[in-house]
Amino acid sequence: MTDRANDVSDDIINHNDVPEELMSVVASLTSERRYVPQWYVYDTRGSEMCEELIRKSKTYKVWQHEYSILQTHADDIASKVSPPAVLVDLGSGASSKTRLVIEAMLKRHGRATFVPVDMAKEFIETRGRQLEKDYPGLTVEPFGGLYMDGVRHVAARKEAKLLLWLGNSFSNISIHQQVKMLQEIRTQLSDGDRLVLGVDMNTDREAVSQAYGHQWISIWRDNLISRFNKDFGGTMDAEKFEYCCEFVENSPDQDEPSCIVLSLASSCKQRVHFETLSLDIDFEDGEKIYFYEGPNTSCKWNLRQLRRLAEKSGFAVDAHWTNDEENYCVICLAPADVIHTSV
Ligand SMILES: C[S@@+](CC[C@H](N)C(=O)[O-])C[C@H]1O[C@@H](n2cnc3c(N)ncnc32)[C@H](O)[C@@H]1O
Repeated sequence: MTDRANDVSDDIINHNDVPEELMSVVASLTSERRYVPQWYVYDTRGSEMCEELIRKSKTYKVWQHEYSILQTHADDIASKVSPPAVLVDLGSGASSKTRLVIEAMLKRHGRATFVPVDMAKEFIETRGRQLEKDYPGLTVEPFGGLYMDGVRHVAARKEAKLLLWLGNSFSNISIHQQVKMLQEIRTQLSDGDRLVLGVDMNTDREAVSQAYGHQWISIWRDNLISRFNKDFGGTMDAEKFEYCCEFVENSPDQDEPSCIVLSLASSCKQRVHFETLSLDIDFEDGEKIYFYEGPNTSCKWNLRQLRRLAEKSGFAVDAHWTNDEENYCVICLAPADVIHTSV
């Protein structure tokens, strides 16, 4: 139907009752720079596979590093908001590390409300029911949707809000959108609210290339392509796409952090048919589908860069905790004016 993806106009795509959020995936796949939105990788199967990998992997250590910090500092984090408080987990997934903060909040406040926010709606609903069984005193109100919709959803609540954004997921937001997104979040928060980010600081090239290597192929290539085929009646052959990982190193003195760039490269010139959309997409040999919207998949920060990020976004660093190796950081941000007036 068309030779170049960017020639695909919306009028020639048959929507065939495809839900709106999935049409946004079609738009990203047919845009000039083809990409997949981050959330699309995490259907229920992708979420389960990812949780299993990140907990067991000997080379991708984000889960372990963050868990060890939360084990020691969950109570400090819970103490940042006054009861009654709502715990909001952006991109909650399985909430496995969040359990430590839930426990600290219940210990401190007696009761708590937990709002997991994630596009993987069914997955967080199932996990939410389990959390309610496991923790008497906890009310779980899952929000299946995009990050910012989740933030707006809780903004008007009277209780203090503790927003968590763990698993280095904030670092997958496009570098060009990060400040804007934090600024938007800032406008939705009150003085007593806090935003806690878990961010990776590991810039060791060897460790990074092992962490993002072939162990991810079954999730980030095979499961992703099977989701494309299921959602859009596609004929994509996973074997005809090569999983690629690149580490882009920036100077630690720059505001822009180093980052990973992940993509799937077509291993030949090929046409893929999506029956549900009545759409063909042609791939040149070597043409890439990037993860995700921006130039980065996963940023690698240092403390100076994090302070600058907070400063540009209307936040100030209230506290931060690193692991023993100092290659992972959990950072608590407060509305800047609150911190300034209290010192
Ligand atoms: C890297 S996983 C992190 C899961 C968990 N927080 C952890 O630390 O283990 C990212 C999660 O964010 C969700 N997600 C990605 N982009 C999203 C978006 N724009 N809005 C809402 N959820 C999103 C995914 O579905 C996935 O569950």
